[in-house]
Order: sequence, then structure tokens, then C-alpha cells
Amino acid sequence: MPDKSTSSEEVTTPATETPEISGTPRKIYPIVKFGDPILEKPTISIKKFDAELEELAEDMFASMYAAQGVGLAAPQIDKSIRMTVIDVTAGKNPEAKIVLVNPEIIHAEGEVREEEGCLSIPGFRGYVMRPQFVTVKAQNAKGEFFEIRGENLLARAFCHEIDHLNGILFLQHLSMLKRDLIKRKIKKLKKLGEW
Ligand code: NI
Repeated sequence: MPDKSTSSEEVTTPATETPEISGTPRKIYPIVKFGDPILEKPTISIKKFDAELEELAEDMFASMYAAQGVGLAAPQIDKSIRMTVIDVTAGKNPEAKIVLVNPEIIHAEGEVREEEGCLSIPGFRGYVMRPQFVTVKAQNAKGEFFEIRGENLLARAFCHEIDHLNGILFLQHLSMLKRDLIKRKIKKLKKLGEW
């Protein structure tokens, strides 16, 4: 998901403006762009939970914040594994950080049509219908199972990021006309060496 300012949906913003300060220097991964086949390939389930996975999750948050996103899935940093990180406060509230490992949507309700974009498809946006409420079952980076419910922007982020883990981009939810238009523009950008 791209920067939160692009969504008109309400997000509770906490009083604190201080992003989490961690003593560990973080690796900032470059974001894979549309056209790379890894983005359209289903990822594999994670079975090994160790310190390395926890480090990777933190590096993914750092990479997502650097790109001013509110969600980042592992294929977007060239790793075809079933993990995504989400923070709809974009770093303002450390408690809003969500790591989803091997997530699955177990309940969805309602419909909201809202504009969304993707860090892997910068500069392009489109209206996508998503459920208003979504409940996800997942594991955290330690392997512990939990369930989490999201509404509006968070529900949208769950759907968008879990789509990524299944090799699906938001373009696939657009009309064929709109999708082809975006793909043609990206092709032109590629020719110009600007993608
Ligand atoms: Ni995305």
C-alpha cells in the first residue's frame, strides 16, 4: 500500500509523533517494481521461525517507512516467502506495527470502493472494491498464531498485502481498460529507462 495520505479513510493517529527508535541499524531493501515476475508468483509458506526472520520483519518495516508506505510484502523485496508487514500509521505508533506470517483471511464483510496504489507500481492508482471488515489468522515472526480484525484502511491493507503473497497485484482488480492503460504507460516508461 502506498502512503496513507492518499486514502480518505479515517485512521486513528496517536498523539506521539516519535517513530520507534531502535539501536539496530536496519537494512533498507530496494522495492521491486511491476514487470518483475516475482511479484506475480505465489509465495511459499514460512516454516522456520528464528532470529533471522524477526530481523527481516524489522528490516521490512524500515524499508516500508523509507518508501513512505503503509504495507510491504516480502515479494516486493525480492523474497518469495509468505510474510508481510503493515503499519497504517506509517511509523507514528509503534503499537500499530503488524507482522503477518502465513496469513489467511478467515472472515470478510461489507464493501468499500476506495483508491489504492502500490509501492511496486509507483505513480499509478485505481479504485478497488475491498471488504470493509476483514479478520485475518496469521503467525507472528516468532511463529505464534493470532487473529486480527481490521476495518477500512486496515482491512484494505490486509487484502492488498495478502494478495501480494498470492502473486496478485491491485491492477488485477481494475477494469481491463484501466489496467491496460496503466500497463501501456509503464511500457513507455520502461522504454525511456524511467521504470
Ligand atoms: Ni502493493
